[in-house]
Amino acid sequence: MNTPGASKPGVSCMPVPRFGVLGSGKGSNFRALAEAFKEDSRESEVAIVLSDVEEAGILDLAGEFGIPHRFVAPGHFRTRMSPEAEEAMVRLLQEARVDFVVLAGFMRVIKEPLLKAFPGRILNIHPSLLPAFRGLEAWRQAVEAGVTEAGCTVHLVDAGVDTGRILGQSRVPVRTDDTADSLHARIQVAEHELYPRMVREFARGISIGPRDF
Ligand code: GAR
Repeated sequence: MNTPGASKPGVSCMPVPRFGVLGSGKGSNFRALAEAFKEDSRESEVAIVLSDVEEAGILDLAGEFGIPHRFVAPGHFRTRMSPEAEEAMVRLLQEARVDFVVLAGFMRVIKEPLLKAFPGRILNIHPSLLPAFRGLEAWRQAVEAGVTEAGCTVHLVDAGVDTGRILGQSRVPVRTDDTADSLHARIQVAEHELYPRMVREFARGISIGPRDF
C-alpha cells in the first residue's frame, strides 16, 4: 500500500482522496475496488476496511491486499450497530484520514454517527434497480416477483433504507430458468464493473482537505 496520504511520485503533488470500506460478507465488491484502485491508484486509495463480522472474508481479503483492517463488535442490535460501535467506526475512519466511505455488502443500517461524520459522503451498492426491491436479498425478491429485468444501483446513503440519491445503475436481464442464486451471481458481475466506476467518478467530484501528515 502507499504511504497514507502521500501523493504519487512523478505524477502530481495533489494528494488523492482516501476511502474506507465497510463490509459484512465475502468481500467480492471490495476485491473489485481494491484491484481497480491498485491499478489506478493515482485516482483514489482504500485506506482501511472495517467489518461488523469477525470472520468475514472481506477482512482476510484486506489482509491479502495489505490494507489495514479491523473488526468492530456491533453490539446487541440486529439491524444496526450500537451507537458506541458506530462511533468506534467513525474514530477508526477518521484516524485513517478517509475522505469518504464505501459500503460493500455492509448489512446494517447506517445511523447518525456515520451520517454526521461523513455527510453526503457514504456510498452503497444495492443488488436491485432501486427504487425496486429495497432491503434484504433483493435478487430473491426480484425472482419471486417474476420481473424480467434486475440489476444493481450505486447510491448515496441517507437515513432511510436504500433511499439515497442514485448515482448509477446497471441492468441485468432475468432468465426464465434463473434461481435466486444464479441471478445474484450475474448481478454481482455487474456490480464489480459498476462500483469502481462510480467510486472513481465520485472521488473526482469531491474536494479534499489539505494533508498535514
Ligand atoms: C452484494 O451483492 C451487495 O450488493 C449486497 O450484498 C452483496 C455483498 O457481496 N448488498 C446489499 O444487499 C446491501 N443492501 P460481497 O460481500 O461479495 O461484496
